[in-house]
Amino acid sequence: MIKKHYEFSSWLRITHWIRVLAIVILTATGFYLAYPFISSAHSGGEPVNFLNALSRSWHVIFGFLLIAVTIGKFYLFIFDKQSQIERSSFWDFISPKAWIKQIGYYMLINKHPHGEGVYNPLQFMAYVGIYVAIVMISVTGIILYVHVYHEGLGGILFDIVRPLEVMLGGLAWVRELHHIFMWVFIIFLPIHIYLAIFNSIYGKSGAMDSIISGYRWIKKKKNH
Ligand code: HEM
Repeated sequence: MIKKHYEFSSWLRITHWIRVLAIVILTATGFYLAYPFISSAHSGGEPVNFLNALSRSWHVIFGFLLIAVTIGKFYLFIFDKQSQIERSSFWDFISPKAWIKQIGYYMLINKHPHGEGVYNPLQFMAYVGIYVAIVMISVTGIILYVHVYHEGLGGILFDIVRPLEVMLGGLAWVRELHHIFMWVFIIFLPIHIYLAIFNSIYGKSGAMDSIISGYRWIKKKKNH
């Protein structure tokens, strides 16, 4: 018998999709900031449409949105009852047996293993890496921000983030690191989507549905 199984809480799903939206918009606007390949319409030889400033505005808006949902996600990971299944994945992550079984599954040698938590060890490691990248791109983003906006929040954060800027090797390096971390997302995204679809279809569990509806399917013995 196949049964519906509640996996991800609504806040977990909402933060996931806001994160997707923010990363897509930040990558598109970030590319433009790094290399302004289209110039805005000129009038009398003067660039007056300020396309770069517009891209930077949207970049910063979605940058702070990304920071907000990341703080929210950390809160969920630590305190949310439904996120216990995420926390339990840590025990698979440190279990060599779980690693061998998972690699065997990817090599089509054995069936999908069932571990302690919702993520397999490779997946857990990849997600930890992605969160490290989000923290790094946010910290370097804030350092860039305080150099562009000197009033309000920028002014408050200026003295706080300056020592970090020095530790990271100066502003030019901060910009370089911010740019390099963008590529972590560009590389991660197609692999993440491919593996999610693969797992959902090959594993016949509707795993892809769980990040949308919250539910996936599990096989249960008839008399249970
Ligand atoms: C997935 C997340 C992000 C991506 C992919 C991304 C990408 C980029 C890229 C490629 C640049 C251009 C760097 C260069 O000149 O080579 C940039 C600039 C910048 N980013 Fe981000 N970024 C992200 C998140 C953030 C966050 C969280 C903030 C914080 C508010 C932020 C604030 C800025 C600022 C202020 C600039 C400089 C704008 C300027 O030069 O006027 N970014 N970003």
